[in-house]
Amino acid sequence: MSYTLTVATQASPVALGVVASALKANAIQPQAVNIDFVPAKNLEAQGASNATSLLKSRSEQYATAKDISLALAKIDSSLLGAANSNEVNEWLVFADEQLKSNDFKALDGAYKKLNKHLTLRSYISGYQPTAADFIIWGSLKGSPIFSKIYKSKKESLGDYLPRWYEHISSLPITHDASNLLQKSQETKAKSSDQGKLEIGLENADMGKVVTRFPPEPSGYLHIGHAKAALLNQYFAEQYKGKLILRFDDTNPSKEKVEFEESIKEDLALIGFPSKIVTHTSDYFDQLYEYAIQIIKSGKAYVDDTDQATMRDQRMNGVPSKSRDLTVEENLKRFEEMKNATEFGMKCCLRAKISVDDLNKAMRDPVIYRVNVTPHHFTGDKYKVYPTYDFACPIVDSIEGVTHALRTNEYRDRNPQYYWMLDALNLRKPTIWDFSRINFVYTLLSKRKLQWFVDQGFVTGWDDPRFPTVRGIRRRGMTIEALKQYIIMQGASQNILTLEWDKLWALNKKIIDPVAPRHTAIVKENVVKCKVIGAPSKPVIEDKPKHKKNPELGNKQTTFSDIILMEQDDVSTFEVNEEITLMDWGNAFVRDIKKDENGNVSSAELELHLEGDFKKTKKKVTWLSYGDEVADIILLDHDYLLTKKKLEEDDEVIDFVTPVSEFKTPSYADANVKNLKHGDIIQLERKGFYIVDAVATGSAPAQLIHIPDGKASSMASKAEDNKGAAAPAAKKASAPTSFPKKALKVASDLTKQVLGTN
Ligand SMILES: *[C@@H]1O[C@H](CO)[C@@H](O)[C@H](O)[C@H]1NC(C)=O
Ligand SMILES: *[C@@H]1O[C@H](CO)[C@@H](O)[C@H](O)[C@H]1NC(C)=O
Repeated sequence: MSYTLTVATQASPVALGVVASALKANAIQPQAVNIDFVPAKNLEAQGASNATSLLKSRSEQYATAKDISLALAKIDSSLLGAANSNEVNEWLVFADEQLKSNDFKALDGAYKKLNKHLTLRSYISGYQPTAADFIIWGSLKGSPIFSKIYKSKKESLGDYLPRWYEHISSLPITHDASNLLQKSQETKAKSSDQGKLEIGLENADMGKVVTRFPPEPSGYLHIGHAKAALLNQYFAEQYKGKLILRFDDTNPSKEKVEFEESIKEDLALIGFPSKIVTHTSDYFDQLYEYAIQIIKSGKAYVDDTDQATMRDQRMNGVPSKSRDLTVEENLKRFEEMKNATEFGMKCCLRAKISVDDLNKAMRDPVIYRVNVTPHHFTGDKYKVYPTYDFACPIVDSIEGVTHALRTNEYRDRNPQYYWMLDALNLRKPTIWDFSRINFVYTLLSKRKLQWFVDQGFVTGWDDPRFPTVRGIRRRGMTIEALKQYIIMQGASQNILTLEWDKLWALNKKIIDPVAPRHTAIVKENVVKCKVIGAPSKPVIEDKPKHKKNPELGNKQTTFSDIILMEQDDVSTFEVNEEITLMDWGNAFVRDIKKDENGNVSSAELELHLEGDFKKTKKKVTWLSYGDEVADIILLDHDYLLTKKKLEEDDEVIDFVTPVSEFKTPSYADANVKNLKHGDIIQLERKGFYIVDAVATGSAPAQLIHIPDGKASSMASKAEDNKGAAAPAAKKASAPTSFPKKALKVASDLTKQVLGTN
């Protein structure tokens, strides 16, 4: 039997121990294991969530170090030791359970246990190296915590653990394993250098980069935020640096503590670690001191000009009447702001940069304003709050941020960012611009999305039609696809309006190999067919859930002499035509009965299992008729907007898609009853679906269609329905796709909102 071992090279720790075990097996039986390194953190995309290595044969799959070792021991039994394989087994469990922790205390206990065990031993078990030695060695070698202790405080590990570790590290097998990994990482680095990504940071030192993602806790994250978050994470990881999640909570009128929790949840959905969490409000005292300092240096003044006048003056390059107040007068006025006196409430603090700089961001921007709404952390301690323009550069500097990532819409504000730091004599981070992400038919403005929620056009912030992280995850987007897509965009500075198709196509590539196949039949006008030659009592057979991926296991398919087929299929049949019943075989159409509307009301088929399925034109889905079929509702969605790109003066209300949710009540094979929330499947000839709600009581399960990036699934259906320029692509490529068959039942909600009820 031959195996493939896939190892994720960005895992922490990398599964180096199984590589050594595999090399050991290969030494006994050359090329028994083909070792493949992939640049990923885990092998979720291969269907093994959390696993960092995966051993596959044609019929088996193992994901833990222990299971992989046991499988490899079938090739080289010495991996389990000469006599006492139980002991090896126990230590493999130990490695899986206790050496992967990030908690220093837990690890320290594990190291002590190892040191004690190795007191009188050269190997973990017996008198020669076993899988236990390799796996434990690999876990230690790949652990940042162990490496650190080993380098700086070796003595604290005891005498025997380091001695054993050095001995195992010096074996030819472990040596080869390390080399193999290193080589794969070098070639990967080379090929990605040459490739599309000229994505790197200036002034970046390995181990010293600090990035931060600074969301305002005032809403939910959308795909644009996800880009910023993932890029920050990408660089922090690439340079082995630090990643800060900073809540930019400087506006108490808009922010709530609940939003922090929802943002953390959203970040968890895209795999962003929220390990270091800070708040701009942590620095209010310091920021206040910096405000006093900047006033004292004569570089800021308190302006009581009303907003409209101020806007005009800034536009026209006219100085404010307050611009030349003395420092004393400014300090007194700032105290009035701080006290929120009647006069203070009319004021704001402005940086004294320029009256008429060509860059309008430099025209004396506001840096502090009054707000009497209590802050969710600092309560009423302050009635003055710094603006983003003032707080962001200062907090970046204080927190040691080396690289501040921002979208290039802020580029005009970069000189202002540096001006603040110069004015206060603070260290300057490097700004790294990237382009904002835009999609066709999609709004990313928080205010406009809120409007959709308030109007009831969507069911909430997690509506599958929404470009929020919640929305797209609910619609079946995987983290892996989102990450790959965003890194692919990389450093591009072009603000493009992107089509959704590439993102969904990428997603399809990831789910296709692992999505179990099932069958669904649309309920409306379903046709009951008699099948001559079929078993009169239902027969249940095991069939693979995925023909190319046997690891997914089997499902049960029922065969009987009464089956359900879709009206759309049967209405194309001709009497005596030979067709193929998918996963069954060929049959002749013997009879077709139609009702007064011209719909097929029943049909009769005769099995012809010896017939060649390559010769039939129609391969159709069917379900055995009986109590066991599952009741489901298929949901499909359209864009919320009818126009690809809204212009400045377009009113959103004029471009809301009248009906953007379609529900199709259907039957599905009984196996679908066992699916869980969030499971992704393919319904044969319909496409990919994610289980949004499992059945409860009499409510059927609901499955949401996952776009696959093909033109048919990406076209705006609303535009299509207008008829005018119906994209030919849709018709041509969509004979089996869902939208064509969709019943276009408007959701009650949409009807209500539009008053068509
Ligand atoms: C601000 O409030 C403090 C404390 O109540 C008071 O001592 C001070 O005089 C006030 N200053 C101004 C300018 O209103
Ligand atoms: C079939 O029945 C539906 C009503 O369920 C009707 O709308 C349709 O026109 C009928 N005829 C054909 C040929 O589909």
